[in-house]
Amino acid sequence: MSLKQKTLDLKKRMQGAIQGGGAKAIEKQTAMGKMTARERIIALLDPNSFQEYDLFVEHSAKDFDMDKKHLPGDGVITGTGNMNGYPVCVFAQDFTVAGGSLGFMHASKITKIMDHAMKLKIPLIGINDSGGARIQEGVNSLAGYGEIFFRNTIASGVIPQISVILGPCAGGAVYSPALTDFVFVVDKISKMFITGPEVIKTVLGEEISMEALGGARVQSEITGNAHFFAESEDECFEQIKKLASFIPWNNTKKAEPFPVKKPNTKLYKIDNIFPQESNQPYDIRNIIKSIVDDSDFFEVHELFAQNIVVGFARISGQTVGFVANQPLVLAGVLDVDSSDKAARFIRFCDAFNIPLVTLVDLPGYLPGVDQEHAGVIRHGAKVLYAYSEATVPKITLILRKAYGGGYIAMCSRHLRADFVFAWPTAEIAVMGPEGAANIIFRAEIAGAENPDETRKQKVKEYKKKFANPYVAAAYGFVDAVIDPLETRRFLIHAIEVSSHKEETRPFKKHGIPPF
Ligand code: HXC
Repeated sequence: MSLKQKTLDLKKRMQGAIQGGGAKAIEKQTAMGKMTARERIIALLDPNSFQEYDLFVEHSAKDFDMDKKHLPGDGVITGTGNMNGYPVCVFAQDFTVAGGSLGFMHASKITKIMDHAMKLKIPLIGINDSGGARIQEGVNSLAGYGEIFFRNTIASGVIPQISVILGPCAGGAVYSPALTDFVFVVDKISKMFITGPEVIKTVLGEEISMEALGGARVQSEITGNAHFFAESEDECFEQIKKLASFIPWNNTKKAEPFPVKKPNTKLYKIDNIFPQESNQPYDIRNIIKSIVDDSDFFEVHELFAQNIVVGFARISGQTVGFVANQPLVLAGVLDVDSSDKAARFIRFCDAFNIPLVTLVDLPGYLPGVDQEHAGVIRHGAKVLYAYSEATVPKITLILRKAYGGGYIAMCSRHLRADFVFAWPTAEIAVMGPEGAANIIFRAEIAGAENPDETRKQKVKEYKKKFANPYVAAAYGFVDAVIDPLETRRFLIHAIEVSSHKEETRPFKKHGIPPF
């Protein structure tokens, strides 16, 4: 054959391979409102930047008539491309080919692109649409998952790993995402479970729909397995690009700086947002928006454990990670889920050189049998561990309540905050005035002629003595009590002077966090 003929032959082979599971399967995929795997990659990456590899990979399985089955690309597309102008590695499972199930060669394609991502020190984005381990390939497909999980773990904290769930994902197809940094889901399209409804019915006799078992809302609101919820695949890809704009490409870099933009202080005016009374709720996200560049706050885990708010923003053009109690929900208490949410986010920021800004307004850890039995001690300890371990610049601002364990846990000086600021409204004490007065003045109140009046008097006394920032400031636990309207100026200064911060911890193989 001539060069021309051989090139034509190549094109024909390529055309055949990119058809995936064929017209009928693609029609089924489209009818479900889903893009094809290739369309997804094109939509996610910068135009014309995708370069595919291993298009001609074939499986070599023989059992269960697999030798008679041709599975184009073995059900997964892999390659490199650009996102926001920077290189990334990507894979997308093709549900039209054997349900995107993971056979040995399918796994080999994924592990190869994962190895590239680690060598090139660039993010890995995995689009998952898969029924899990390919049943016909037995232990070979399990081996494939093991190889992926191992690489996910080794890559953790070295390169950002992003998972997108765009179909009914089962078994290993959800355990690999669970090992990555951020999981994105789309309403009505994404489903995650370790085993689907059919298996549950067979084994347990329980009937449940895929949506109710592990749909996008369930994973975003209840389990917290998903960090970002979108209404459509397009919206999901925009979210990924936005996330990527805030984070560095690997753990040796800082996030790219952006041009400085002032916050919209007309819309987010602290005087209007922050209430007069110390027990009135308010939305902490508005406070964040009143401080950060362009009032642009990109929330992570928005629908899960809403009593704490975490997410990215920029101050003076630099990415920072915010961790903030949310007085709108459960008065901003720390509980099992919010502790998990905060600790995980802190560890991501620390691994990827993103300074942490902590906003404090909480009555403490949530008491009660449910929380104690759910392990609030173990989960709550994760926050203490994550903050203590973190060596990125840590700036803490106490707005209002900072009581008891909550005061310590929310990046206090004692967990090595670099700067601790407090508004004059801050109340730093072992517990709230009512509870404290009831305990320390119990006898006096009980013996008084008018116990109610005495209680009120004692609460007032306690408030005056402790419910302020000045006792902590007198000990140097708070560095400066600041005018709330000067918050942005203080934060900019703190971040600028911390830009060369270096802090080390004693050598160890690794710590043992309260997982
Ligand atoms: C081989 C599979 C498959 C699998 C789906 N298919 N899952 N083939 N191995 N695991 C094939 C189907 O046979 C079908 O092929 C095509 O993909 C589409 O699947 P449907 O069932 O028609 O689609 P749908 O009704 O949308 O249901 C999707 C599903 C369901 C919920 C994912 O297929 C399902 O429950 N699959 C099994 C899930 C599972 O239990 N996986 C193993 C997990 S164990 P045809 O030829 O008919 O089009 C695991 C081990 C890892 O992953 C452990 C990690 C710790």
